[in-house]
Amino acid sequence: MPNRFHLGWFFQGSSAQAWGEPWTGAIGRDWMAPDLVVDVARALERACLDYMLIEDSSYVGESYGASRDIYLRNALAVPRQDPSVVATILTQATSRIGIVPTFATFAYPPYLLARLMATLDQVSNGRIGWNAVTGSSDIAARNFGFDGLPEHDTRYDMADEYMSVVNGLWGSWEPGAIVNDEANGVFVDPAKVHSIDFEGQHYRSRGPLNSGPAPQGRPVIAQAGGSPRGRQFAARYADTIVAAVRGPEAMKAYRDDLRARAKAQGRNPDDCKVLFLVAPILGETEEEAQLKKRYRAEWAVRKIDTRLAFFSKITNIDFGAMDLDTPIGELTTNGHQQSLDEFKRRAGNRTLRQTMSDFESTVQSVELVGTPDAVAAQMGEVMQHVGGDGFLFSLPNVSRRSVAEIADGLVPALQKRGLTRTAYAHAQFRDNLLEF
Ligand SMILES: Cc1cc2nc3c(=O)[nH]c(=O)nc-3n(C[C@H](O)[C@H](O)[C@H](O)COP(=O)(O)O)c2cc1C
Repeated sequence: MPNRFHLGWFFQGSSAQAWGEPWTGAIGRDWMAPDLVVDVARALERACLDYMLIEDSSYVGESYGASRDIYLRNALAVPRQDPSVVATILTQATSRIGIVPTFATFAYPPYLLARLMATLDQVSNGRIGWNAVTGSSDIAARNFGFDGLPEHDTRYDMADEYMSVVNGLWGSWEPGAIVNDEANGVFVDPAKVHSIDFEGQHYRSRGPLNSGPAPQGRPVIAQAGGSPRGRQFAARYADTIVAAVRGPEAMKAYRDDLRARAKAQGRNPDDCKVLFLVAPILGETEEEAQLKKRYRAEWAVRKIDTRLAFFSKITNIDFGAMDLDTPIGELTTNGHQQSLDEFKRRAGNRTLRQTMSDFESTVQSVELVGTPDAVAAQMGEVMQHVGGDGFLFSLPNVSRRSVAEIADGLVPALQKRGLTRTAYAHAQFRDNLLEF
């Protein structure tokens, strides 16, 4: 019996998804309705994925060409609905899969976040997770009345304190606090509910949480810190880490590093599952898959402007102001550092146009092209080399068709090989993550 691994889905929070691309139905008319996101969640639950992560940011892009035009015209990460509403709907449309909305620490006061997550955990019967991000855009910060975001590492220092507050609040109801004893007229045992009286450098909160306890104690924490400071944060708090590194060697090194960091902080490294980004290209035959790969490459060249605009949005760098045909030179960011480092590594002395011809702004850990069975075999081999813990699907074009290829094509092939689960063993999200 091979070792089983976990699967998740990284779902770009945009409501219009791959608007303008083939196989997207009437998304341009239907984007306000939750039907597509519900259909996706149900398909992923059918395939027994651990979770669906809903990516988010809270601003309209304007880094490319110092304008919002390209983002609005092309529905690039806009419009996007509030993830707390989308997550609520998904908890009611599914029964076993974990639902992981993204909330940025700069945007949500800790008490509000702790109460929101506890409520979501309650209404989902213990299936909620939180993608804990610090935020990476000064434009987003300005939407909330700040001049800009603090510097990169300071954001993580603040997030450390933030975690102390929310963990304190989730712990403000001891297990067994709700006694529901009608005979003696006691619903909650007051001795088991406590204030936290947190006074930090950046945050203060009194507590207790008035929502009552979360069924999982605290929600599953997902994190994607790629920088050394980000990894330290992730290793300390995350139940699952979503990783953007390329190649089996880098994957193994990344996972080993995170496990060592978790251990150094007194944690059992097996309690933290590292999932690596992939975007498989599947065909009925190897030839068909290769043909689709060529289509994707042609698409990447055709869409260079919008792809750069997307990359501008996450790095805050105006690629629209650069000449496509000269080497890219020195670049720095206060946004997604890891993505930019990978980009610079790939670019070397090449021009922007040459680099973008084979660069995907969402890094794929391994290239997967072939029939479902061949790709399943490759995923098994890579995981064996890396040591665990699984993959996070992230497709450039989400449609019911592309999701079905994974959920109803690839995953059954993985299951046949005994590589992923065929049924959920537990009712709660964290228990399923810890199953193997
Ligand atoms: C798979 C994945 C998902 C992410 N989702 C979000 C998100 O939804 N919102 C966000 O602001 N940042 C998101 N990020 C960015 C991370 O929070 C983080 O800023 C990034 O990985 C860079 O890490 P660093 O800041 O430690 O360099 C994501 C990153 C990855 C790899």
